[in-house]
Amino acid sequence: MPEVQDTVAKCLSCHLTAPDRIDIVGLTALQDLPEEWPFLFEDAFDLDGDGIAGAMRFVSGSDRPLAGIFGEKLAAGRFEDFAQIAAGAHGIVIDGPDEMARIRAAFEALSPDPRLPDSDALQRFEARGCASCHVTRTFEHDGRTYMPLSDFLLHDLGNGPRRTAPLWGCRTCLDASGHVEATRAPTER
Ligand code: HEC
Ligand code: HEC
Repeated sequence: MPEVQDTVAKCLSCHLTAPDRIDIVGLTALQDLPEEWPFLFEDAFDLDGDGIAGAMRFVSGSDRPLAGIFGEKLAAGRFEDFAQIAAGAHGIVIDGPDEMARIRAAFEALSPDPRLPDSDALQRFEARGCASCHVTRTFEHDGRTYMPLSDFLLHDLGNGPRRTAPLWGCRTCLDASGHVEATRAPTER
């Protein structure tokens, strides 16, 4: 097996939840997440007094700072940047742009394409106040509407700042009883 395949396989080894899907949802659509998204909701010091503080994280891009959107700590603004971080963390060598492009293509091909949530579930979700972080704003990609259900900000719910988990692709998450009982269900993602 060529070494190139090997690198992709190393990355996928942690992310595959089935032979044909990974645990990272909506990767293709995310390309069109508007750049201003986190800015729309940013409120690091709770200046609006709603009891919810959410902070952006700026990360370095190739030519200018970007808002982090990838990873639970918002460590990167682009897939490729997170891939480099992951490679460093897991001792994987990504050998140039071609290999990076293959990794991205493999991840995108295996990333589940999320559907919009059921409107009744969404109404209950909003009524419970969940949408103050898991925002219900939408964006368009390839002629379809997507709702990631995240402000892509960091909130500290007691264990340090974490990105609001995007809930698209997780059907049971909207009716989850709260963060204590919220568990990752790979089959739903
Ligand atoms: C040892 C297991 C492991 C390996 C190997 C690994 N990852 Fe990950 N990856 C994780 C975990 C756990 C997370 C979630 C932690 C986080 O978001 O910071 C994650 C998060 C990510 C994310 C962010 C997902 C999101 O929701 O924003 C991307 C993108 C990613 N990995 C890509 C890669 C790539 C590319 C490689 C190969 C260079 C790789 N990973 C190798 C375990 C792994
Ligand atoms: C103050 C902001 C905030 C509010 C309000 C909020 N969440 Fe979250 N939610 C988060 C953050 C941050 C995470 C990520 C936690 C972590 O990584 O430890 C999260 C994670 C989750 C997860 C786990 C998803 C996964 O992939 O692991 C579920 C399910 C969830 N929230 C459902 C809800 C529901 C249901 C409500 C309303 C009852 C709600 N959330 C209200 C910020 C919020």
